Amino acid sequence: MPTLNWIGKEKVINHHQDVPYKILEPQYTFSNGKESKGATSENKIIHGDNLEALKSLLPEYEGKIKCIYIDPPYNTGNEGWVYNDNVSHPKLKKWLGQVVGKESEDLSRHDKWLCMMYPRLKLLHKLLADDGAIFISIDDNEQANLKLICDEIFGGRNFVTSIAWQRAYAPVSLNKYFSTNHDFVLCYSKKKDIYRVKKLKRTEKQNKDYKNPDKDPRGNWKAGNPSVGPAVEKNVYKVKCPSGRIVLPPKGRSWLYSEEKLNELIDDNRIWFGKDGNSIWAPKLFLSEVSDGITPLTTWLYSEVGHTQDAKKDLKQIFNDDLFATPKPVKLIERIISLTADKNSIILDSFAGSGTTAHAVLNLNKEDGGNRKFILIEMEDYANTITGERVKRVINGYGEGSKAIEGTGGDFTYYELGEALFKDDKMLNEDVPLTKIQEYVWYTETKEAFNAQEENYLLGTKHDTAYYFYYEKDRLTTLDESYLRTLKTKAQQYIIYADLCLLDQKLMDKYHIVFKKIPRDITRF
Ligand SMILES: C[S@@+](CC[C@H](N)C(=O)[O-])C[C@H]1O[C@@H](n2cnc3c(N)ncnc32)[C@H](O)[C@@H]1O
Repeated sequence: MPTLNWIGKEKVINHHQDVPYKILEPQYTFSNGKESKGATSENKIIHGDNLEALKSLLPEYEGKIKCIYIDPPYNTGNEGWVYNDNVSHPKLKKWLGQVVGKESEDLSRHDKWLCMMYPRLKLLHKLLADDGAIFISIDDNEQANLKLICDEIFGGRNFVTSIAWQRAYAPVSLNKYFSTNHDFVLCYSKKKDIYRVKKLKRTEKQNKDYKNPDKDPRGNWKAGNPSVGPAVEKNVYKVKCPSGRIVLPPKGRSWLYSEEKLNELIDDNRIWFGKDGNSIWAPKLFLSEVSDGITPLTTWLYSEVGHTQDAKKDLKQIFNDDLFATPKPVKLIERIISLTADKNSIILDSFAGSGTTAHAVLNLNKEDGGNRKFILIEMEDYANTITGERVKRVINGYGEGSKAIEGTGGDFTYYELGEALFKDDKMLNEDVPLTKIQEYVWYTETKEAFNAQEENYLLGTKHDTAYYFYYEKDRLTTLDESYLRTLKTKAQQYIIYADLCLLDQKLMDKYHIVFKKIPRDITRF
């Protein structure tokens, strides 16, 4: 498979493993129209760089996200927006200097963008569920590069499609070459053989194509195509219309059905020869017999999913102001979510901007009583004042008079990125709450989310192995015979973390005990 190279690639390829693991610190939960302390909602808005935030999500969410939508900076070189679209944001510049080193001074804007995206996509890939999919908005500035790195990270075989979304309402006649009026949405599944795209709901407009000119008691129908290509010889035969006219399939094609089958259908009044009985026959496709949904096309028109002006107008209605320059239409993201997610799925957007993804999730839940959850990450300071504030207004309802929009209900917890778990990547940070350390260690051992246990120091059991984390902030812990006598859980094998071990090797072999030294033997991921 062809792969893409760029300056700095070798430095970022495994960088996601070196990103410090930080804990998420809940600031408030918004529920029932007001903020309160604690983290009681399953919906999350996280303020921070998504590289660190995505890593923080791994212990709880690895392999659990059904639908990821991201709308990263397109790298247009346009500086004049609320955020810098050309990856020269001071935070990113600093990060590139640290990760890529001196070479970073020579990077082109494409190199920088790829360095920024690669480790983030690696983490997103880990978070995606086996039957889930990621959708990425992009335009021609980076779509070709993005496609190649996604082929590398997600696997070319997991590429699902590239959607052309008609984003612009009015063509720009001043453009020298073409007036670009579409963006791409690239879609990759985690495992294509088990990923299923849901059908789109049939609209009233589509149903109107079905009519009943012959008053068929089976109801409305529309005429289908009678021929297929390339021609299959046995299905090329003469058909006699009721008027007596003889018809053949078009050159190079054959009839849809064998002669025998066609005659059966004519007898069942399922074939239409036009009002005058003189037209080329057509199969009657009954509305009552077509499947409920429609297979989605790869071109999405603004008449179906909105355009960028719609998105700005909607946001203005929420804030009475143009607070954010590049929102996506809610309908666009609603469609993406409904093609992949179930009513209980978790949906992640790690370039959250004005929070459209949360808006779409809340709308869909309101519409069908679902319990989809959202996780949004936004690095800019407006994570609370725009992203969070929009979601509050959507939950509560907004607008006035005839333009008032009823609230969706719902809640979310707002987080800041907190302390790193390790100091200088070596010692455990004692300021981090014990449950966060336990959660991390349990995840490194089992790749599962942690549940607090009743037995002291027990992290849990898996595959008949009991995991103990014998750790005290203020004193050294020793794995010795007297500690062993305190263990209550019976298992085939024991993995015990402690500061020191004084057990005899023979005894450890006899009881299948593995000692792991804190912090040396805690895996960094
Ligand atoms: C194109 S906007 C997304 C707009 C969004 N889809 C909407 O409808 O409002 C991209 C957003 O990603 C944010 N962003 C860029 N780099 C980021 C990073 N490293 N971590 C978190 N957010 C980031 C930007 O601040 C910006 O708000």
